[in-house]
This record gives sequence, structure tokens and C-alpha cells, in this order.
Amino acid sequence: CGIVGYIGDRDTQTVLLDGLKKLEYRGYDSAGIAVYTSKGLQVAKSIGRLANLESKLDGAPLEGTAGIGHTRWATHGKPSDVNSHPHTDHTQKFSVVHNGIIENYLELKEELIEQGYVFVSETDTEVISHLVAREYKGDIVKAVQRAISFMRGAFALGVLTEYEPDRLVAVRQASPLIIGIGEGENFIGSDIPAILKYTRRVYILNDGEMALLTKDAVELMTIEGNFISREMISVEWDEVTAEKGGFDHFMLKEIHEQPKAYRDTMLGRIDEKTHKVVFPNLNMTPEYIRSIRQIHIVACGTAYHAGLVGGSVIEQLIRVPVSFEVASEYRYRNPIITPDTLVIVVSQSGETADTLAGLREAQANGAHVLAITNVVGSSIARDANDVIATLAGPEIAVASTKAYTSQIIAFNLLGLYMADIRGTMEASEIAHVIAAMQSLPEQVESLLAQSESIKAYAEHISKHEHLFFIGRGLDYAVAMEGSLKLKEISYIHSEAYAAGELKHGTLALIEEGIPVIALATQDALLEKTVSNIKEVKARGAEVMAITYEEHVADLMRSVDQVFAIPKTLPLLMPALSVVPLQLLAYYASLALGHDVDKPRNLAKSVTVE
Ligand code: G6P
Repeated sequence: CGIVGYIGDRDTQTVLLDGLKKLEYRGYDSAGIAVYTSKGLQVAKSIGRLANLESKLDGAPLEGTAGIGHTRWATHGKPSDVNSHPHTDHTQKFSVVHNGIIENYLELKEELIEQGYVFVSETDTEVISHLVAREYKGDIVKAVQRAISFMRGAFALGVLTEYEPDRLVAVRQASPLIIGIGEGENFIGSDIPAILKYTRRVYILNDGEMALLTKDAVELMTIEGNFISREMISVEWDEVTAEKGGFDHFMLKEIHEQPKAYRDTMLGRIDEKTHKVVFPNLNMTPEYIRSIRQIHIVACGTAYHAGLVGGSVIEQLIRVPVSFEVASEYRYRNPIITPDTLVIVVSQSGETADTLAGLREAQANGAHVLAITNVVGSSIARDANDVIATLAGPEIAVASTKAYTSQIIAFNLLGLYMADIRGTMEASEIAHVIAAMQSLPEQVESLLAQSESIKAYAEHISKHEHLFFIGRGLDYAVAMEGSLKLKEISYIHSEAYAAGELKHGTLALIEEGIPVIALATQDALLEKTVSNIKEVKARGAEVMAITYEEHVADLMRSVDQVFAIPKTLPLLMPALSVVPLQLLAYYASLALGHDVDKPRNLAKSVTVE
């Protein structure tokens, strides 16, 4: 999750630890460093806080002239000392730090094991250290190039070998990496804060590029080995801005990280040859998946809302009844759980006490529990029978954004996976949905480019005390999340209503000028939603509709404003339609001068029941 590297005459250990401390805010579960010392390449690593690593080093400091360091956020393999980076090959001559995911690591691992390489960890990263060792013929740059030619996926790497201690290699492939330039010293970092204490002059690597660092020079090249030149940038950010990647708040940064979070959550889970979903690590057998008779989805807050979307999709795809359970209610209502009940718990943090209690209740009743979580080493991930990790990366803002959308992606993948096994979808249908999912990241990018129009609307909304969100079907589920987001950070009161339910009471609250945000992305329900829009319009509401391009002209006739989102399949619409609502909440909070990232009375992770 965080990479730092150094080559030069300073005390390397101190530079590495300084860098890792600056990356702490992103969250991590373990940390480690490798330094080239007078005794060769030496590694120290430890699970838990950096202080644990520091106390290990207190007794036996690593003194040297080059090193790499890493803070890990577990993806493949639980947090532990051995799974921490840096990883070495079995000769201990090569060490690697890595961010990202190697999609084909299982294949590579099997091949390396057959060739006699001995693995000690469960990580995908260890594959890289063995590959580099195998490919090494006296030139570390060439060895890394050959190694990565076998790798698929997203990775940023720092590589150091005892054979060439005056050279440090860095690679960027779909995971950020920067090179810091000093006088007689050079640096690498996954993020600017990692090196800001020592230098403000950087090269930003692009995907498919790498760098060879010595203490006096930096050579940039493509991973194929063609030299390139790049303008050096001088970073003007202060430390706080740098942590937020140049954004004003973590929430805005995380909203913008969604395209990457979608890609990462899909990475390695789509077989490009068969156009099917693969989950090589699930314990659920095909026989078990075929035997499922009901599904309970148990979660809190935003994760519950992701469950509403995801569960509805799964119900459609596999035709098994799904019920949605607020975790704090679940175990007190004596739920009917049978061995053929699949219980899906959803939790960003994996530590929410209510959700954990729901998981235990389900297990005590013999259910198979599958967790969708963003924290692989969390209590929920450890206790669940199966885990699907959302690879959104650490989420810092209290209001969840990229974790929610990644949970939706995970649900879609799971639905397709089960539909294939249960035979409820044709291969061609599955391939069709997958292709649409693969377009989502770019579609979110195009949405984010329209932030300004949402900002203007948010400023307008911020002057109101109450508003409504309406929608039908999946639009209703998204309306609930939009309303929650707005309440959480702007403190404006809002309610989400199933559009058809308004007339059964709530319509009494609609008066002149009250804003109503109508989600209208579901083709089959569009006409009905438009009727409900007309009901509120007739009573003076001021309506903003969110729909996809084709319906804009049509809807313009019934509403005051339309925000257009790109077109995708109806079941994937939530992954797009929620983005303007996240931005709406963000800009409304900003306009009201609230603490966007840390709203009053709320905590990121609630570990009490
Ligand atoms: C807290 C947070 C919410 C979050 C909920 C569930 O209430 O403020 O944003 O949705 O917990 O958290 P989890 O980590 O289980 O997803």
C-alpha cells in the first residue's frame, strides 16, 4: 500500500522509516524495510504499527546505503510478519516491495514451485522476487524487465539486489510511483508525502515505465527498455495537501479514486479467455452454490445500502430469494437460518460490531458466511467462511464512497459467478454484463469531469432544510445512499422514498420549492417514475432528475434540471448514478462549511453494538 526507497549517503533506515511514517495515514496492517548493509541485504518486518518495526530495529539497526520500505494493506494473504514486504527470493539476494495485484500469480507460483523455488508467504508479491532471481544474469534492470514480461496485473515495484547495491530499480504499471531527485541521493515513493521531507523535485512515472536509480543519477525508460526523458516537476504542495493527493479532502480524493477501485476490484476476477468470473480462492464449492435456497445480506450504514443494490442484482441473476438485514436488528429477531442459507456480510472496515455479531449468529446456526470487505486482515474477514475483498484501498473519509461502489462491483461479480454455476445465465449474457462492467471505470471518469455542474446544484441545495430523493427498484436503493451521504456530511435533512410510495403519506410534505432528486435510470420503470415526478411537480416541488443521455430530452419536459449519466445496463446503473450524489453531498457540505472528512458525531468504524 505504501512504497518508499532510498539510495545515497544518509542513514537509509531513518529515511525509509520517515517515509513510511508519512504514509501511515493511509492505513496499513504491517510494515518492513530491506537495506543493503555491510552484511549484505538485510530485512526487518513486522505486523502491526510501525512502532513494532521500530522496536525490532532499535536492537539491531540496519545501516547501509540503499534500501526499500513498505507499509502493507493485505490483499493476498492475511497480515502477518511473513506476508509483510519486502519479500526476498530464497537466496535472500533480491528484495522487492510491491503495491497492486499480480493477476496471474497462482500460475506463476505453481511454475516456480515446480522449478524448485521455495515459497514462505501467501502473497502474490513473493512470486516477483523469485521471478527476478530466476531471470537474473548479471543485470538487475534486465532481470526486472524479463520478470515483468511474465506478470499480468497492476503493480508498482521497488527492487534491490545484493549483487548490485549501487542500483535501485523502480517500475510502474497501473499503480502509482514517483522518483524523488536529490543531490547525491535519490528516492522512490508510491506517494509524494513519502519523500517530501527530503526533496520536492520529482519525476512522475507513467504506466509501463521504469527507472534505474543510482545515488548520482536517474535513468527513465519504458519497461521494454527504451530510454525516455521527462520533465522534472517541483512539488508545491504542503504536507497536508500532499496526503490528500492534491485534493481538498480525502472524500473528494476517494470519489476520484473510484475508477481505479472498480478496476482493482475486477482485476484477476475476470477470465479474459472465457469471459467469465473466477474466484480461485473461494471455499464455497459449486455443489454448495447450487444448493443455496436463500440469501441474507447483513450490514450497517453504507455497506447495507450496497447490500440493497447487490442483493437485488443477485436475486435477479440467480433467482434465489434475498433478504436484507440491518445488522443491529438481525440477530435479535431470531432469523430463520438453515444450512442452505448463504449469509453475505458487507463491511468496509470489517470491524463493525453489529455486523460481526450478525456473522457469529449466522455461523452459530450453521450458515456459510461470505464477507465482502475492504480490510482483508479484519475481524470479519478472519471469521468469515469466505472473503471477497473489495480492492478499493484504504478509505479515510468517514463518509464511504469508493468502498460502497467497490462493494457493488463485488456483488455483481459474485452474482455472475453464481449464475454461471447455477446455469441461470447463458455464457453470452454473462460476457455481455462483464463487457459493460469493464466500461464502468471510464464512464465514472467522464462523470467526474462534470463535477462543476453538481457543485453549482449543491450550492443551491445547501440553502434548503429538507429534501427528498425518489426512485424505483435499484434507483430507490441508490436514493437511500444519496440521502444518507447528504445527511452524514451536510446535516441537511433528507429522506429517500420509493417513488411509488410517496402518495401514501409523504406527499403531504411536498410544498412549494422543496427540492426533489429523482433517479430515473431503470428503463422498465421509467414511465412510472415520471408519473411520480409529475405528482411532486404538481405540488410545487423543484425536481432534479438523474438519468442517462437518451432520456434527457424527454425528462426535461417534466423536471427543472437533468443530470445525465452515461448509459450502461440497468443492473449496473447504481455504479454510475451514485457518483453525482456523492459529489452533491460533498459540495453541499463544503458550501455549508462543515468538516467534510470528519462529520460530527460519526465514526469511520463503529466497534460498539
Ligand atoms: C459507520 C460509518 C458508516 C459505515 C458503517 C458501516 O457507521 O460511519 O460510513 O457505512 O459504519 O461500516 P463498515 O465498516 O462495516 O462498512
